[in-house]
Amino acid sequence: MQKTILSGVKPTGRPHIGNYFGAMRQFVELQNEYQSYFMIADYHALNLIQNAKEMRELSLDVAIDFLAIGLNPKKSIIFKQSDVPEHTELAWIFDTITTVPYLKRAHAYKDAMAKGGEEDVSAGTFTYPMLMAADILLYDTDVVPVGQDQKQHIEFARDTAEKFNRIFSGSTSLTTGEIFKLPEALIIKDVETVPGTDGRKMSKSYNNTIPLFASDEEIEKAVMSIVTDSKAEYPENVFYIHKLFRSVAELDKIYEENKGKYKVLKDILIEDLKNFIRPLRERREEIAKDLNFVQKVLAEGKERARAKASQKMIAVKRAIGVI
Ligand code: ADP
Ligand code: TRP
Repeated sequence: MQKTILSGVKPTGRPHIGNYFGAMRQFVELQNEYQSYFMIADYHALNLIQNAKEMRELSLDVAIDFLAIGLNPKKSIIFKQSDVPEHTELAWIFDTITTVPYLKRAHAYKDAMAKGGEEDVSAGTFTYPMLMAADILLYDTDVVPVGQDQKQHIEFARDTAEKFNRIFSGSTSLTTGEIFKLPEALIIKDVETVPGTDGRKMSKSYNNTIPLFASDEEIEKAVMSIVTDSKAEYPENVFYIHKLFRSVAELDKIYEENKGKYKVLKDILIEDLKNFIRPLRERREEIAKDLNFVQKVLAEGKERARAKASQKMIAVKRAIGVI
């Protein structure tokens, strides 16, 4: 039987090359082999985006981004999380079998605590991993392609599936066997974490990104702002980003020939980025002209995702004994 993948992207701002090389690029290749679900995680984003206009625009933007990178709605199911209410329904059920100390181990929660302290952490941020577990487990997902930083969330989903199966399987004559499949993360080894212009993880929240659909001017500005260590033989942060576009052997040669000439090296990176981004940006501009088409893709995605999720919820509800 064909295996299933599912992944999600939060509509919290423009995607960057870290998102692309860490996660999104894999989606395009994987859709040919797997039954594929790609989700706009708007309810996850609600922890951050609390403005209707922004939420609407950013969610539609992710749909356009998905199509622009090459997701094909004939092959993949592209949908919005909020269009399938089974996600939040199942998340509640998971909340009831999960303990507070377990959720306190989540990196996202720890980061939020480190930033603002308990006062500023929403209950939604705290239970975030359970909504994500629901996203994944509703579709009998085998594989979840994500960046390294999401690995723990997939483990949480796996643990939650095991726990649910242990507690509820066989608890009703209507259910046979296990309810949830145990998912696995798929992480590209070579890329792992793409560094940002300041050398930290590239992230929307650090203001250190190179946007995936950047204009030529934005590319120039971002590369020029890459922090370099004036004592080093070659600019490490430039090199790490450059590695996404050329082989290490090729780069070693270029960086050796231009030792100490940071401006020249940055200019080469700028050209490589421009050549890579231009066709993607142009495709995105075309798609953004036909928003009816984008809405149609989401409407179809909603129907197809719900068909699967609602079946799964019936099995879950039987297992817990509410029907
Ligand atoms: P951000 O940190 O910019 O808010 P998200 O949390 O929205 O990014 O991540 C979306 C996807 O992109 C996730 O699967 C995540 O693991 C991946 N990702 C994000 N930043 C990077 C990075 N710097 N390197 C590799 N993958 C990344
Ligand atoms: N938490 C993920 C992120 O920050 C987004 C996400 C939500 C997701 N639900 C998912 C990823 C399900 C994979 C599978 O990027």
